[in-house]
Amino acid sequence: MKKEILDSFFNSYAKAVDKAAAVSVFWRLSDEIITEIIKREIAPHCKDSSLTMDAGGGTGRWAIKLSGVLKGKLVVFDRSKDMLTKASENISKSNTSNRISIAEGDLTQIDEFADNSIDNIVSIYSPLSFIYEQDKAAKELFRILKSGGRILIMSHSYHNAIASKINNYRADAEELQKLANEQVVKWAPYVPELITHSKESIEKLFADAGFHIHKTYGVPVFVQPGPEDFDPENEKKSAISEYLENSDIYKSVFEIEMRFNANETVANRGMNMFMLAEKK
Ligand SMILES: C[S@@+](CC[C@H](N)C(=O)[O-])C[C@H]1O[C@@H](n2cnc3c(N)ncnc32)[C@H](O)[C@@H]1O
Repeated sequence: MKKEILDSFFNSYAKAVDKAAAVSVFWRLSDEIITEIIKREIAPHCKDSSLTMDAGGGTGRWAIKLSGVLKGKLVVFDRSKDMLTKASENISKSNTSNRISIAEGDLTQIDEFADNSIDNIVSIYSPLSFIYEQDKAAKELFRILKSGGRILIMSHSYHNAIASKINNYRADAEELQKLANEQVVKWAPYVPELITHSKESIEKLFADAGFHIHKTYGVPVFVQPGPEDFDPENEKKSAISEYLENSDIYKSVFEIEMRFNANETVANRGMNMFMLAEKK
């Protein structure tokens, strides 16, 4: 993807993203589901000596949060200078510099890390969807991971993108066909074209790179965001976020999401695909 388009997109994204979960209960729920999956699938495999990479870790907000969940050290790896400048500020403010480092680089060519040098990898809110050379990225992630290491990686969902373009955007026939045929979605003029995945296509991509696939979660599978949840200024509130403000409803929805989100016949309902694999 063109670096200038990405840089201008992430320049504004970096400023807005850290506020989203504070304003939108939809994003708070989505973040809590992701955290729970990481607690179950990655935390038991981390030791004090482990190094976990947050691939496409952006502003460091996940690494900071995960430093309370995962043992060992974390590295935020990203290609955007703007995101990493914010990450550096966030890490100093949260006094986590002894646990979290930063590395600038591209996931399609991770020159900064040697073969078999990382214990586990997480990648949240779809850095993979911004990468056109998907095979290259999957192979690089396989190369840097130690044997026995796990990867939990997210992508925008293919089936959800089609459903959303029909139901929320009333997209024209040409746009729908392009998405259905090429698995590429354009959400808004200021967002670059993104690669989407089904459970099947993300599992094939990483199996072809050598990984042993465990499972794929949909995140979330039942709750659907409102258009206001994508407000770049993070000022508007959606009807679904208002509904989720009731704490009994929030708890029930969270529990039901976790009950079904890795079910093989349900995962493709997800807004995002979150795939778990291992380097044997
Ligand atoms: C949607 S943001 C998510 C950031 C972070 N994971 C979060 O949840 O807040 C996607 C991130 O992927 C990074 N990214 C995109 N393409 C990349 C590439 N080829 N190599 C490294 N990072 C990349 C972007 O710079 C951006 O920080």
